[in-house]
Amino acid sequence: MRHYIADLKNFVGQKVELKGWVYQHRSSGKVKFLELRDGTGVVTCVFFKGECDPAALDTFEHVAQEASVRLTGTVRQHPKQAGVFEIGAVELEILGRADNYPISPKEHGTDFLMENRHLWLRSRRQHAILRVRHEIISAIRDFFDGRGFTLTDAPIFTPSACEGTTNLFETKYFDEKMYLSQSGQLYMEATAAALGKVYCFGPTFRAEKSKTRRHLIEFWMVEPEVAFNDMYDNMDLAEEFVEYIVQRCLTNKAEELRVLERDISKLAPVKRPFPRLHYREAVEMILKENPAFKDGDDFGAPDETIVSNRFDRPVFVHHFPAAIKAFYMKEDPKDLGFAMGSDLLASEGYGEIIGGGQREDNLETLQRKIKEHDLREEDFRWYSDLRRYGTFTHSGFGLGIERTVTWICGLPHVRETIPFPRLYGRSYP
Ligand code: 4AD
Ligand code: MG
Repeated sequence: MRHYIADLKNFVGQKVELKGWVYQHRSSGKVKFLELRDGTGVVTCVFFKGECDPAALDTFEHVAQEASVRLTGTVRQHPKQAGVFEIGAVELEILGRADNYPISPKEHGTDFLMENRHLWLRSRRQHAILRVRHEIISAIRDFFDGRGFTLTDAPIFTPSACEGTTNLFETKYFDEKMYLSQSGQLYMEATAAALGKVYCFGPTFRAEKSKTRRHLIEFWMVEPEVAFNDMYDNMDLAEEFVEYIVQRCLTNKAEELRVLERDISKLAPVKRPFPRLHYREAVEMILKENPAFKDGDDFGAPDETIVSNRFDRPVFVHHFPAAIKAFYMKEDPKDLGFAMGSDLLASEGYGEIIGGGQREDNLETLQRKIKEHDLREEDFRWYSDLRRYGTFTHSGFGLGIERTVTWICGLPHVRETIPFPRLYGRSYP
């Protein structure tokens, strides 16, 4: 019977069989140590002459980093570390050799690691990041599923643009021209009119030729949409959501965050309510430190950092100028020129993790906006129908998974937060 490293605490004093890969190995005199990893954990296996199968000592001479092996032995308490277990090994069998594994424990450059991403994933730091990612995704699903939302996933092939036409991937759909989805939002507006509280969660694509530490070409986004929520209800939902995700990672992924050397005292204050700034208030803050900023412009990464550094938790900036926002954003009738949307900037300068707001629900205004944005009215016939038949106040937002993982893990770059990143200038492996 095969056992998993994560379960060894239940087998103290018993014989077990493990299968996995050699993380590290070393000999000192009569004792040989093999660090075995099996995806559930890492355990030290001690081969002691006289205690183990003599053939195992010969086999040990042929093991190499990342060879796959089968071994048997007895589980025992580690002599020095309480709560840690080790294996008094007996048998050792090599299942798959690994000669000259390219990634050694020494330092490697990022390019080299990215080129070997399929192998880099085997390292302890990458395990920690992907486990935090998994926790975030589970938390997202639990959050919405526990609040009466219905998952209504959007299509990837889309006939029209949502966030602007300049960064769309064009593709062929038989003889038609189509695009890869950059957001499922417009479709969520339709399903919200059907089911009230909905969300989609899938990959989205942006053909942005930017090599920043925040941009991926293919990234995952979760997009809730709620019928009869206004922009303020939308911020309430977003802050409850982000608090839930962060606090769940702190509770369930403490070990992974420790491996990543994350300063968790910076995440502990991520609790409701989050501060909310009008665009104009944020601009005032920015101008004090970046006098070159032009009022009316969108924020650059350094501007976002200026704002977020003032707070110990994420901060909303709402009412961006309507002119720089998407066609679907409702302009505030009480604050003309400004859109009823908000971005959420993560703390510690990690930048925007959420974009969203209240949608234009008036048919005539929407049709005018579509024209002003040089979009084709016929592409949005179905979307306009949502205003023709029972139009409704509604709001929603999109949270980027990889930027959220970057922030919670405290990483310098978004590239390690997805198993196989698609970046401008990198699409292998
Ligand atoms: O602000 P964005 O473009 O908003 C939308 O797409 C809306 N339609 C969402 C909605 O209201 N349903 O993108 C939302 C989030 C950003 O805040 C960011 O976290 C992430 O998606 N994001 C990216 N993440 C990685 N790489 C990129 N190139 C990203 N672009 C956006
Ligand atoms: Mg945005």
